[in-house]
Amino acid sequence: MAGRLKGKVAVVTAAGQGIGRAIAEAFVAEGATVWATDKDVALLDGIPKAKKRKLDVLSTKAVNAFAEKVGPIDILVNAAGFVHHGTVLSTDDKAWDFSFDLNVKSMHRTIQAFVPGMLEKGAGSIINIASGAGSVRGLPNRYAYGATKAAVIGLTKAVAADYIKKGVRANAICPGTIQSPSLDQRIKDLAASTGTTEAAARQAFVDRQPMGRLGTAEEIAWLAVYLAADESSYTTGQIHLADGGFAL
Ligand SMILES: NC(=O)c1ccc[n+]([C@@H]2O[C@H](COP(=O)([O-])OP(=O)(O)OC[C@H]3O[C@@H](n4cnc5c(N)ncnc54)[C@H](O)[C@@H]3O)[C@@H](O)[C@H]2O)c1
Repeated sequence: MAGRLKGKVAVVTAAGQGIGRAIAEAFVAEGATVWATDKDVALLDGIPKAKKRKLDVLSTKAVNAFAEKVGPIDILVNAAGFVHHGTVLSTDDKAWDFSFDLNVKSMHRTIQAFVPGMLEKGAGSIINIASGAGSVRGLPNRYAYGATKAAVIGLTKAVAADYIKKGVRANAICPGTIQSPSLDQRIKDLAASTGTTEAAARQAFVDRQPMGRLGTAEEIAWLAVYLAADESSYTTGQIHLADGGFAL
């Protein structure tokens, strides 16, 4: 079905690659006007029909200026995030602070900037990309990452509760292990740090997925389309797993 987002304006962060990119493309295909943003604007080349803008979500000033330029929107997707690897003993303050700045405070920034326009319209859907790793399931070596993604779920529920009677919804998506450029990099890093082959490192990621395969970014994007569309109008403050059984 096409046209499910016709007439809606969407902003997607980290739309340059991976899950954010697939969501931006799916929203365009469903008829939305899409502002595809990323800190690396060159990565946005090739997204058909989207308005492409550089946006570093670490900058409150840049986010506010962008929101002012765009005006009121209907859909906000917060996809920017970074996977730090480490335990409590190997995570220094800098890594901890960076993870929270990019994975959590960035969402605080964009939501604070775009919620007033949604309240003006009396409608809006906020979709935050959390993870199966965090409060859904604890994973080894994802100390800071898991803490940030649990925080994303708390933030999402708080926003949903505050605006539940004002037409503004907020939901979190928790993906399992999804094929993406950053996953490829993590596989390379794991192979290098453990002295194993990349094929073996990749298999270790596949093995943690009960379905026996990685997910695709499109499989996450279809869920995002549902949460963005009016079809999900009775759904807010929830975590939505698209995880290939990761949390089973
Ligand atoms: N890939 C997975 O297995 C997986 C699983 C669960 C959750 N997630 C989450 O999904 C989201 C997307 O991950 P992915 O692996 O699909 O994509 P990715 O990590 O491959 O791409 C991330 C994108 O974010 C952009 N980015 C980085 N810092 C930015 C900043 N400061 N401002 C704006 N853009 C910035 C990058 O340029 C890049 O285009 C992240 O929040 C990640 O934590 C991913």
